[in-house]
Amino acid sequence: MIVESPLTERMGLVLTGSRDDLSRIDRAMLSKKVAEHGAVILRGFELTVDDFETLSQEVAPEFLVHHDVGRMYISDDGTTQTVVPGMEGIPAHVERGYAAPIPATLFFYCNHPPDSEGETTLYDGFELFERLSPESQKFFAERKVRYRLRIGPELWQRTLMTDDHAEAMYMIDEQLTSALDVERGEAATCRVDDDTLIMDFVTPATRTAARREGVAFSNSGLTYLYTLEMPEEGLLALGKMTMLTEEDEAFPLEILRDALRASREVEYKLSWRKGDMALLDNRTVLHGRAAFSDPNRSIYIRIGFGL
Ligand SMILES: [Fe+2]
Repeated sequence: MIVESPLTERMGLVLTGSRDDLSRIDRAMLSKKVAEHGAVILRGFELTVDDFETLSQEVAPEFLVHHDVGRMYISDDGTTQTVVPGMEGIPAHVERGYAAPIPATLFFYCNHPPDSEGETTLYDGFELFERLSPESQKFFAERKVRYRLRIGPELWQRTLMTDDHAEAMYMIDEQLTSALDVERGEAATCRVDDDTLIMDFVTPATRTAARREGVAFSNSGLTYLYTLEMPEEGLLALGKMTMLTEEDEAFPLEILRDALRASREVEYKLSWRKGDMALLDNRTVLHGRAAFSDPNRSIYIRIGFGL
């Protein structure tokens, strides 16, 4: 029998069952439940990596292959990967929220749980927004953010398979134009400065969704804050991202510190068991990680488009 229970008072749904119940998971309903609840946790089904890939495929037709150094490929095509390496804590963030298109759905799989700590942390973006000070709410709701990525020549030349600046710009322009959500007011520009590719992505810092009234905090501001204020935490892969205001000014850090405080108030720590899976609406449910010390922790991720 599959038992449904709420994850927290206001967000998420847990489906608990056993291996025998696996065929009873209504796969067509999974994406609907993610949209309704923001997060769905499958617990006790003893899923294999194959099950994980089959179920995620039901919800997202396409997956992103993240090019972070240190993420290992689990599937041959790289659409199933390990999560960010390291053991440090990671604050609430939208996965790859700093580049277009922002992924719609995230899938996590527990290959091996840590013996203690190391929970994946979840944050309802709507609740986080409600907990912000009125000043921060106004700032995030009314102003867009500008993410600036600096990509060194090794990476862009390898990815685009050219070292010609004009050709690279042309290819990126083509890709960006189709990736932007113009209705949300997203915009992007690209330039080359001394062989470094500089890509700007302008997007709102909040978003709406059918499951709740109001707006959800939805951006990568807290990882940016961590790279500035807690460089000892590592997050090397994210260190090349800068967050600015749309007007190209420094982002006010007191606003981000207020968001960090609010995120801690709404944090839910998801303890993993082997074979469990989590499905998240990446745009209104943020995630992070509690620090840990067990080197055997092994969590896989798929990053999906098109919910
Ligand atoms: Fe992440």
